[in-house]
Amino acid sequence: MSFLTAENHAWRERARDVAERVVRPLAAKYDREQTYPWEIKDAIAKAGLLRVWIPKEYGGDGAGVLNLCLVVEQLSRACGGVGVMYAVNALGSFPILNGGTEAQKKKYMPLIATGEKLISFGLSEKYAGSDAQGLRCAAVPDGDSFVLNGEKKWNTNGGAANLYTVFAVTDPNSKSRRISAFLLDKDENYAGFEISKTEDKMGIRCVPVVELSFKNCRVPRGTLLGGEPGYGFKHAMMTLDMARPGVAAQGVGLAQGALEYAIVYAQKREQFGAPISSFQMVQQMLADMAMKTEAARQLVYASAHAVDEGRPDAGKLAAMAKCYATDVAMEVTTNAVQIFGGYGYMKDYPIEKYMRDAKITQIYEGTNQVQRLVIARNLIKEARQYAALEKYIPTEIQRGYNDPETLARQAAPAG
Ligand code: CAA
Repeated sequence: MSFLTAENHAWRERARDVAERVVRPLAAKYDREQTYPWEIKDAIAKAGLLRVWIPKEYGGDGAGVLNLCLVVEQLSRACGGVGVMYAVNALGSFPILNGGTEAQKKKYMPLIATGEKLISFGLSEKYAGSDAQGLRCAAVPDGDSFVLNGEKKWNTNGGAANLYTVFAVTDPNSKSRRISAFLLDKDENYAGFEISKTEDKMGIRCVPVVELSFKNCRVPRGTLLGGEPGYGFKHAMMTLDMARPGVAAQGVGLAQGALEYAIVYAQKREQFGAPISSFQMVQQMLADMAMKTEAARQLVYASAHAVDEGRPDAGKLAAMAKCYATDVAMEVTTNAVQIFGGYGYMKDYPIEKYMRDAKITQIYEGTNQVQRLVIARNLIKEARQYAALEKYIPTEIQRGYNDPETLARQAAPAG
């Protein structure tokens, strides 16, 4: 971690303080109760952690995505649910930063920076998960308003949040300008905008995940992000490129947190007259867990740095970090449960929660299958830079199905 600056360390320490002082002691309670941890949110806001990614001109500290990731990592080390409860405010607000008008940014970003308004991101639907372009929720222009009809699924932070970035179809006949983003403030009490279901989840139980429903919901034209319809999908993709290092950091935090518990337990737990940490099979597990967690961490920091630098390969690196770090989180947390043995499987112990919290990180913000697709598409796009290698690859004329030699072979009697 030597390349981290003093500023990075300061954010990391500030988040670690909140994580150890406030989050860890309450993690089991909110996991059990599955209620929103307002006291934790207040501590996060008080420590100024919601200001990290928000530019200075909109009331934040302008500290960027790398510092955001350092905060998410520390919070997730103590509780994976709190990690995402925090990070989703960045996910929800990136569409405003990417596509909002100056007036929308000035109005809403300072409220998010202070924690006065929480935000949720509404892209997925029942029939549109990985295929985000396939969404059906419709927003029909009508005079000075849009009328929304449809549903949104898996809105993390929904119910607790006041603000919702909602993606909807504004031009069903267009291929590339079909979708637009809206910024809806629930405090405006738009008739026909309801939270229709709150999910009961395996993990990340302190943060609500809800379904939104719109029934002839009339919203002012001013809620259209950027003021121009048709740029929603592009802004959603740009948002995910910026936000995926955050989920990756959640994975690193979960892996690190589970590893630390496993190390402590392995020294405490005795079998065959010795602490299990003295057995080489356990040592190998711990070493692999630590090695993979550290590799994931370095990839997450590199991807976040690429986003902050606006590098053209930032989207590819973000997908790599998200995929790798969350796969590592699943493996490391599962192995941590293994080291705890039967106790690890029990809810009396803190470790099984890490495994449950880790699972969703492989699924949301794009499944890890989608991340691999994004990585591969980028590799293929970049292939031009390796064109000089072609001359070293032997070429051979491919034979078609009507090649005479092939046909003769097929026509020859069997045996
Ligand atoms: N940046 C900018 N523009 C982009 C882009 C990017 N990274 N990726 C694609 N685009 C543009 C393309 O240039 C193209 O533009 P034109 O039409 O003008 O040419 C357009 O978007 C369509 O691109 P594709 O043809 O590549 O799109 P696709 O339909 O093949 O889908 C996909 C690509 C990568 C599979 C995408 O649908 C995807 O990322 N799916 C996963 C969705 C996802 O991550 N959902 C997570 C929901 S949020 C969540 O989970 C949060 C939570 O709970 C915490």
